[in-house]
Amino acid sequence: MNILLVGSGGREHALAWKIAQSPLLTRLVMAPGNPGMAALGEVVQVKVTDVAGLVTLAREMTADLVVIGPESAVEAGLADAIVAAGIPCFGPSQAAGQLESSKAFTKAFAERHGLPTGAYVVCDEAPAAKAALDRFSPPYVIKADGLAAGKGVVIAQTRDEAEAAIDDTLGGRFGAAGARVVIEEFLEGEIGSLFALCDGTTSMVFGHAQDHKRAYDGEKGPNTGGMGTYAPAPLFTDELVDRVRKELAEPTFAAIAAEGAPYRGVLFVEFMATRGGPRLVEFNVRFGDPECQVLMLRLESDLVPYLTACARGELDKLPPPVWRNEAAVCVVMAAEGYPGAPVAGAAITGADQGFGDGVVVFHAGTSKDADGTLRVAGGRALNVCAIGADFPAARQAAYAAVDQIRMPGGFYRSDIGWRALNR
Ligand code: GLY
Repeated sequence: MNILLVGSGGREHALAWKIAQSPLLTRLVMAPGNPGMAALGEVVQVKVTDVAGLVTLAREMTADLVVIGPESAVEAGLADAIVAAGIPCFGPSQAAGQLESSKAFTKAFAERHGLPTGAYVVCDEAPAAKAALDRFSPPYVIKADGLAAGKGVVIAQTRDEAEAAIDDTLGGRFGAAGARVVIEEFLEGEIGSLFALCDGTTSMVFGHAQDHKRAYDGEKGPNTGGMGTYAPAPLFTDELVDRVRKELAEPTFAAIAAEGAPYRGVLFVEFMATRGGPRLVEFNVRFGDPECQVLMLRLESDLVPYLTACARGELDKLPPPVWRNEAAVCVVMAAEGYPGAPVAGAAITGADQGFGDGVVVFHAGTSKDADGTLRVAGGRALNVCAIGADFPAARQAAYAAVDQIRMPGGFYRSDIGWRALNR
């Protein structure tokens, strides 16, 4: 098969790493890819939101399948254009993609269809938003309505902080994505990321993981796109997985199809395991980043048949995926200043050495000079991942590799998976 993979982050490097192991693969083209991905196939410099350019590329390479990594490509309507060109596509339509591209849409959708979630208010003017805080108690959850690369969420401990976040969001910090602000009830509990595939009709759970969203150890600091993940997380009992599937994932697939936008791709259900059961925090319309990295390390089955089956409406022909019994951990090495104003340019050394069995370093935000020097080019630069017999072994291997990489000014969390260690 000829496969076009769209994206350039750690998630896409992990997908490329797994796709490249498939015996079904003939040719892997990645747009725009990154220096790590370049070792796995051909990288072509077309942006993820250049819909016409990607359709042309898919046609030229006679792609049998296009795999969409990031939400920005979904929002740009890439899947619609690829499907219109007659090419199977893993990734939802723009209409179904509203489940991520608008938090206000998702909250109203959840309300319409009786999905368990927290109370919310949507406002487009600061005075009304500040007055609406009266209906909530601290901590206040303030979100930009649109896509903000995981940085549009503030958990404010005080009213002053909440009001500042409202001013910041509506004041243009996230551009058009912040034209509306969503204020949400704070849900108490432990957060989890569950993934489900759907081909428009049939769906199946496709793994789960736990992420650490705060920038610093001890769940402190600003929200990020995710500083590290591990799987399997003890939170995910069979009973909880079943409840999230039945109470959130399956009703969503049925409802979005009933609204005329059948879902083809992966749905990332971010939920809070509250004392009253799982409640929706938000949906994402792609694999989690860096959840995907630990999923791909643990996936024993060939990924390509699952991606293809979603695109072709043939998921009912496949068994549930097989996962390795081992545990996997991902530690994000972030640039100085992330998530606020990441500083690019620092030279990275030691990232591409062989670390031994079970350790994989995915590139997330890197660039390479003509002389081969690797540099920080994005907020989350590297994802250092390891798989091991159990969680402590995987964790030890990942941090041993982190210790051998030099990234001046960069930082990482040293407590990824603390809940699993403390249980
Ligand atoms: N790690 C969370 C996300 O991908 O949005």
